[in-house]
Amino acid sequence: RFFTIALCATDQYVLDDKVGLGRVFDGIGGLSGGGATSRLLVNYAEPYRSQILDYLFKPNFGASLHILKVEIGGDAQTTDGTEPSHMHYENDENFFRGYEWWLMKEAKKRNPNITLIGLPWAFPGWVGHGKNWPYDYPDITATYVVSWIIGAKQYHDLDINYVGIWNERNFDSKYIKLLRYTLDKSGLESVRIIASDNLWEPISLFMLLDQELRRAVDVIGAHYPGTTTVLEALKTQKKLWSSEDYSTFNNEVGGGCWARILNQNYVNGLMTATISWNLVASYYGELPFGRDGLMTAQEPWSGSYVVESPIWISAHTTQFTQPGWTYLQTVGHLAHGGSYVALTNGKGDLTVVIETMTHDHSVCVRPPLPAFNVTSQNTTFQLKGSFASLAQLQVWRSRFNFKTQKPTFFEKLSPLKLSDGSFTLNLGEDEVYTLTSLTSGLKGSFPDPPPSTPFPTTYKDDFNVANPPFTEAPDFADQTGVFEYHINLTDPGPHVFTLRQVVTQRPVTWATDADQTISVIGNYKWENLTVSCDVFMETVKTGGVFIAARVDKGGQSVRSAKGLFYWIFSDGSYKVTNDLAAQTVLAEGLSGTRAFGWHTLTLSIKGQYATGLLNGYPLWKNAVVLGPKNGWAAIGTKSFELAQFDNFAVKAE
Ligand code: GAL
Ligand code: CA
Repeated sequence: RFFTIALCATDQYVLDDKVGLGRVFDGIGGLSGGGATSRLLVNYAEPYRSQILDYLFKPNFGASLHILKVEIGGDAQTTDGTEPSHMHYENDENFFRGYEWWLMKEAKKRNPNITLIGLPWAFPGWVGHGKNWPYDYPDITATYVVSWIIGAKQYHDLDINYVGIWNERNFDSKYIKLLRYTLDKSGLESVRIIASDNLWEPISLFMLLDQELRRAVDVIGAHYPGTTTVLEALKTQKKLWSSEDYSTFNNEVGGGCWARILNQNYVNGLMTATISWNLVASYYGELPFGRDGLMTAQEPWSGSYVVESPIWISAHTTQFTQPGWTYLQTVGHLAHGGSYVALTNGKGDLTVVIETMTHDHSVCVRPPLPAFNVTSQNTTFQLKGSFASLAQLQVWRSRFNFKTQKPTFFEKLSPLKLSDGSFTLNLGEDEVYTLTSLTSGLKGSFPDPPPSTPFPTTYKDDFNVANPPFTEAPDFADQTGVFEYHINLTDPGPHVFTLRQVVTQRPVTWATDADQTISVIGNYKWENLTVSCDVFMETVKTGGVFIAARVDKGGQSVRSAKGLFYWIFSDGSYKVTNDLAAQTVLAEGLSGTRAFGWHTLTLSIKGQYATGLLNGYPLWKNAVVLGPKNGWAAIGTKSFELAQFDNFAVKAE
C-alpha cells in the first residue's frame, strides 16, 4: 500500500476508488444501558439536559452519533443498575417505564436518520418460567422481545432498526430463527437481527454450518474485538460490527483508545460500525466503570457536565461521513504507525480520517493491547479515480499533546490546496486528522455549565407527583429490583403518592442481583447522617423493608454490599445489620411492625455509633459500626416483594 521515496523522506499513499470499493459504512454509536448508564441524565434541569443531548446527537455539532443502542430493560442488575421491563409480569404491558423511550425520541428529534438498536441483558422472571434461562420457552422470549419493538412504534412512533439476542450470554439457534419468524409474522420484516453480542465465535461457525441461521442473522456483532476479526466471520459475508466497544475511562487516553479503534476496527477487522459502552456516563461515579462514557453527566443536582475528548474524536468521523457511505479499499496502516481510512458517498465526496495514537496513549479497557510503535512522519496522499480532480480539502485536527497536557480537539485549520491531486501532511504522535471535501462540520458549544457540587446534604422527596415525566424518582439508582412512582387511589391519608418496589420474582439475571432489592441515593462520601422514610410492607408474615446508610457497593457487586441497614419485618420484629445480605446482625428485637400499615423509620449514624427510631420513638441505640466509613443512603426490601416508601429524607453533615 505504501512505498518510501528516500530522497524526500515522505511516505506515499494512494486514495483511489477505481481499484474497487470496500464495505458500506454503518455508523458510529453509543449505548445507553447495560445498565442504567443514563439514569441521572433524565434528572438534569433544562437547558443543561438538552445541551448534553445536543453534544451527543445533533448533526454537525458534537459526537453527532449515527447509532443509538439501548437496553431492553429486564428488571435486573446489568452493570450500573437495573432498568425496568415493559412487562414486569406476564399480563402486564407498559411502554412508559424508564428513560430509554425518552432518550430514543430525543435522539430521533435531533437526527431523524439515527439507527436504533434494542438488546436485552436480562428478562423478567416469568419469561424463564422461574428458571435463570431465557430459551426453554423460546416462543415466550421472542414474543416478549417483539412486543417491545411493537410498543416502540405504537406508543412512541419509534422504528427499531436492529434487535439483538442476549448480551454476552449464550445464544440459541432455535430462538434466533423463532425471533426472525415472529418479527416477520408481526410485519417487522425490516427489523434486522444482530448476533450474538459476544465473541466472533461460536456464532460465525454456527452460521456457516446452518443456512437457516445464516439467513436469520444480518449482522455479526462482536464485543471488544481488539480491532480484529476471524476468518469464519469473514466467510459468512455478513456485516461485521463492533457492537460494543470502548468502556474506557474518558480522559485523554480514553479519547486515544476511541480514536484508534474507530479507524482500526475497519482497517484490521473490516467492521463497519462501532458502538461505545457507554453513551454518556450518567450514573454515580463510584459504581462500576465510572466515567466510561463518551462524556460525563453525573450531577443532575448541580447541572454540571463535562464534554470529554471522545466526543470530539467521534466528530472527526461522524460529522464527515454517514451510514451508506462506502469505505475505499485504499485504507491501511501508516509506515511509522497509526492508520488511515477513507470513505466516499459515491458522488465525488471524500473523507479521510488519520490517527497516529501511540500505544500508551490509546489503551482501552480490554482486550490487552499488543506493543506497537508510532513516530512522527511525513506523508503524501495521492488522490486518484473520482478524487483526482479535487482542488482542496477541509482540515480538522486534534492533538492530544500529552507532554504539555494542553490538548487541542477538533480544530478547523485552513483548507489544504491540492496540487496534481496530492497533499502532504507532517504527522506528529497522538494526532487525529480529518481531510474532507465536505465544507460542513462544526465544533458546537454552549456557555460553560454550572460548576460541579457534591450531592446536597439536605434532601427530601415526598413523591407527590401526579403525572411524573419518568417512572423513577430523581437520583434513586436501583441496584436490585425496580422502584416506581405509585398512586394509592383509595388511600384517604397522606400516602396517595409513594415510591413502590414492583419486582416480585427473581429475574433471568445478567449479573448476580442481590436476594434483596435496593435503591441507592446521595453522596458516596457521606459518613455521618440521618436517613428517614415512611415504609409500607405489602407481604404479611414474611415481608421486610429497610433504610440504610454508608452503603458501599452497587452494580455487579451489590450482593456483597456493606453498610448500616435498619430493617423492620411484617412478623413484628426488627434487625440492624452491617450488610445487605443480613449476615452480620448488630441488633435485633421486637418492633410490633406489620404489613399494610405505615411506619416511620429513622436511622442516625455518627462515627462508630448508630441509633434507630420507629415512628419517632427510640427502638435501638449505640449499635457499633466499624465499617464501612462512608457510602450512599438506600432503601429496599427483604426479598422480591411489593413495598412502598414515602417522605424519604436525608440530613448529612
Ligand atoms: C460489557 C457489558 C456492559 C458493561 C461493560 C463494562 O461487557 O456488555 O454492560 O458491563 O462490559 O465494561
Ligand atoms: Ca407522598
